[in-house]
Amino acid sequence: MASQRNLDLGTALAEAERRFVDAHPHSARRHRDAGRVMPGGNTRTVIYYPPFPVAIARGEGCHVWDIDGNRYTDFVAEYTAGLYGHSEPAIVAAVKAALDDGIVLGAPNRYEARLAELIVDRFPALELVRFTNSGTEANLMAVSVARVFTGRSKVMVMQGGYHGGVFIFSGNGSPLNAPFPFVVVPYNDVEAARAAIRANAADLACVILEPMLGGGGCIPASVEFLAMLREETRAAGALLIFDEVMTSRLAPSGLHGALGIVPDLLTLGKYLGGGLSFGAFGGAARIMERFDPSRPDALGHAGTFNNNVLTMAAGVAGLTQVLTPERLIAFNAGGDALRARMNDAIAARDLAVHVSGRGSMMNVHFVRGPVRSPADVASASKDWLKLLQLEMLARGYYMTFRGMLVLSLPHGPAELDGFAAAFESILDEYAPLLR
Ligand SMILES: Cc1ncc(COP(=O)(O)O)c(C=O)c1O
Repeated sequence: MASQRNLDLGTALAEAERRFVDAHPHSARRHRDAGRVMPGGNTRTVIYYPPFPVAIARGEGCHVWDIDGNRYTDFVAEYTAGLYGHSEPAIVAAVKAALDDGIVLGAPNRYEARLAELIVDRFPALELVRFTNSGTEANLMAVSVARVFTGRSKVMVMQGGYHGGVFIFSGNGSPLNAPFPFVVVPYNDVEAARAAIRANAADLACVILEPMLGGGGCIPASVEFLAMLREETRAAGALLIFDEVMTSRLAPSGLHGALGIVPDLLTLGKYLGGGLSFGAFGGAARIMERFDPSRPDALGHAGTFNNNVLTMAAGVAGLTQVLTPERLIAFNAGGDALRARMNDAIAARDLAVHVSGRGSMMNVHFVRGPVRSPADVASASKDWLKLLQLEMLARGYYMTFRGMLVLSLPHGPAELDGFAAAFESILDEYAPLLR
């Protein structure tokens, strides 16, 4: 058992931060320099954490190296976009082949319809699909078409949900959110959401949610909650949109396929572009055919890079050569086993810690479980998450500042065992403070 720390959380955090600063002088300098030309030295809020983020120089398999020369096993996995790892040979070869044929063709190319076919075949909710450059754009398009299709305005979302930089519903939301009339309901609260749908039925265009909150803490929706939403939106004449930008990786047919609940529209992103910029939205033909440009009343959908050859080629290679259903199922089972091991370790020490999630996505929370909604973790100190990140970095494991852990295909038993052992050593070290 690791030596137990006779410290308070503030002192432990200050010590860990000092060690972090000492180990990352180049990252510190890069951050300072970047601040001259980018606000806070940053162009993507989620990858900032104080005092400065480690800058990554390169990745290979499931490992990354920072510019200070430290090597980590990567449990950030690009917030789920990195499912294939950093150097999957089939994807690298496909991108190189596409590059050789020119990269800005300005026309339909030979990859996009193949990727669309693979994706439509995979996910039960999809009859027709369109590509975008990001998950955010996919959600903007899905919500917008829902409003046009229904002729209604209101958009119901979940407290703690996240659908992109203009769809942030944690805490008090964001002043930058898209200017839709949002109705925010508590996640997994069957009766509150049912009542809100009924109360807003006359002008409710859609309900959009993640079937498991991703950035909101890897909190799965109950089947009862999703089934109620399916039934009530249908009765209200509103569309049900599942944002599976993250969760589609949890089963070969996506989380909605695994649960047997089919939304009207589905949004996708992240790994499906092989690790390159990607988004997609699609669903029932009766809705999506409105985008057919040969129709006199066609809805326009623009995007210079919607069918960019690198993403399309990488996506096809991933789905045809790498991500077989068997492999995806085994991959997620590995995540379930890791999460179970971490929760067993917590229970054995009787600590106020819980790991939520499903399959290859999980989140550590510094509260006693179970965790059913963001409200259940609202009171937890963020300092513990920060300390966990610093302690994991010091042990050679790259992870997010918010406790989210994501697996990638190259993670093998050695990496998962090593991670679990490192986590257990941290629990031992701080156990007296966590009871
Ligand atoms: C559930 C969900 N929806 C949408 C998005 C936005 O995707 P992107 O970052 O590609 O715009 C994210 C990104 O993390 C997400 O987790």
